[in-house]
Formats: sequence, C-alpha cells, structure tokens
Amino acid sequence: MGSGIAQVAAQAGYNVIMNDVKEEFIDRGFNNITKLLEGRVKKEKITEADKEAILGRISKSVEFEAAKNADFIIEAAFENLEVKKTIFQQLDTICGDDVIFASNTSSIPITTLAATTQRPDRFIGMHFFSPVPVMRLVEVIPALKTSEQSIKSTEELAAKMGKETVRVKDVPGFLVNRANAAFRAECFKCLLEGVASLEDIDKAIKLGLNHPMGPFELADFVGVEIGYSVFKTLYEGYKDPKFAPSLILEKLVISGDLGRKTGKGWYDYTSGEKKPRTDIKF
Ligand SMILES: NC(=O)c1ccc[n+]([C@@H]2O[C@H](COP(=O)([O-])OP(=O)(O)OC[C@H]3O[C@@H](n4cnc5c(N)ncnc54)[C@H](O)[C@@H]3O)[C@@H](O)[C@H]2O)c1
Repeated sequence: MGSGIAQVAAQAGYNVIMNDVKEEFIDRGFNNITKLLEGRVKKEKITEADKEAILGRISKSVEFEAAKNADFIIEAAFENLEVKKTIFQQLDTICGDDVIFASNTSSIPITTLAATTQRPDRFIGMHFFSPVPVMRLVEVIPALKTSEQSIKSTEELAAKMGKETVRVKDVPGFLVNRANAAFRAECFKCLLEGVASLEDIDKAIKLGLNHPMGPFELADFVGVEIGYSVFKTLYEGYKDPKFAPSLILEKLVISGDLGRKTGKGWYDYTSGEKKPRTDIKF
C-alpha cells in the first residue's frame, strides 16, 4: 500500500519520502513503482520523461528525521496498534505543528490512533484501496476531534492524487470493509456448508456479479491477515455473529499463509501461478 500511495502522490506532483524499517523494503516498493510506470510508458499513457520526473520526486529514508520538513504524513505500516502508535509518537516530536497525520489503517479506530498523539485535531483516517494506482476511492475518516480544516485539506490532497472521497464515521470497519465483510462472511459460510467449491465461489461471484476478483482471490491479494483483523474488529465492535472470524481464516493466519505475498493463502502461488491448494482441504 505504501508504494502505491507514494506513486499516486508523486504522479500528482508532490515530493514524497518513502520510509520503512529497512532500505531493502523501500527499494522493493520503489522497484514496484518503477515497473508500473514502465508499463505505462509502454502503453504510451506517459512519456519516458514523465516516468523519470515521477521517480525523481521520490526519495527514500529509513530515518524518521527525514520527515522534519514534511507537510503531510500518510502511514501504511503493519496493521498493529503498537507499531502505528510508536511511529506516530516519534513523528509527533519531529514534524511541524501544522502537519496532518493520516493513517491508512483498515481496522484500528482512528480516534484510538489520534489519542496517542498531541495533535488529535490534525489526525485523520485516509483509507486507500488496493491496488492504489488503480482503485479510485479513498475513505476519509475523521476522528472524534479532527478539525473541519484537517478534513478539507485531506479531501483536497486525495482529489489531487486523482481519488474520489467519501466521508465516513469512525466506526468499526468504516464503510467499505464493513459491507464487504458481511458479503465475504456469507461466501465463507457457503464454502463451509459445501454449497460450492472455493474455486467455483470465486468464479460465480466474478461472472455472476461482475466483481473483478472472487472473495478468496481478493483475500489473497489484500493479505489474509488484513481480512482477519477487519473481521475481528467488526465482531468486537458490533457483537454481531455474522462478523465472527471464521476458524479456517484464523488458522491460515496462524500458519503464516497470508496469501500472494507468502506464496500460499486460499490458493497456492508457489509455482508462480494461482493453483488450488492440494496440501489442505477447506
Ligand atoms: N492490503 C490492502 O489491501 C490494504 C488496503 C487498505 C488499507 N490497508 C492498510 O495499510 C497498511 C499496510 O498494509 P499492507 O498490505 O501494505 O501491509 P504490508 O505488510 O505489505 O506492508 C507494511 C509495510 O510497513 C513496514 N513497516 C512495519 N513497521 C514499520 C515501522 N515501524 N516503520 C516504518 N515501516 C514499517 C513493513 O516493513 C512493510 O513494508 C495496514 O494498516 C493495512 O490495514 C491495506
């Protein structure tokens, strides 16, 4: 998500500093951006000079100090409260008072994150969708004390990045993940009841509802652990049994089968292609 966000910001003309815990992780993201831009040059959507200019606006740093002169922060680190809290508390002492902090969290309440900083009025949720350069929506989620000025600045920034925005309350799952989780929960139930095979559920949802990916393909694409966090947050937040994370989902996360990025999730990608799993039976 971080590299996608960096890409759309640089495409919009902003200077971007990419930060991660290791240089190799930033390089991986930067290489992704380079590949995607090369694809756009090939398709004649942008020129070689555009590509170079976009890449030239992106710098890399593993040090938070580099954010000293930043005008806006967008955080997209691990979906873990402690990790995000540590990041924001460090940045709070480094960044100027007028800087807005945005989190791309999928499931942590924005007000909880805002309360860990000294700038709860300049803290906001900015929820992008994957893949960021393609997906047009950003959910803008004000925390309890976010000022109207901070909301407007965030909406303007998202618009400059080529995104449409919707203002959404800071409720568990926000809007899109809440609606999507209810839908996915039903698909999980169909799988467990044996209504159809996993592959056929994906096929049916794609061809019958015109979704670009089936629910299991999408889960692997997004990261199985992200979906699991969303279900847990929704279940804890609404106490509605429909959001109870399915046991098989929990087992996949515990086993480290997080989807495409680990080679296995609902499908097996270890051959380089998406294949049904033969080592476990759902
Ligand atoms: N995957 C999606 O489709 C999606 C969609 C919307 C929002 N999100 C949210 O975006 C965030 C990132 O998700 P992702 O799928 O890109 O995860 P990811 O695990 O692919 O990437 C997270 C990155 O954060 C880095 N990181 C971890 N701790 C850090 C720290 N202390 N300082 C700097 N960098 C650190 C990691 O090294 C890693 O490169 C999560 O909060 C997730 O909920 C994800």
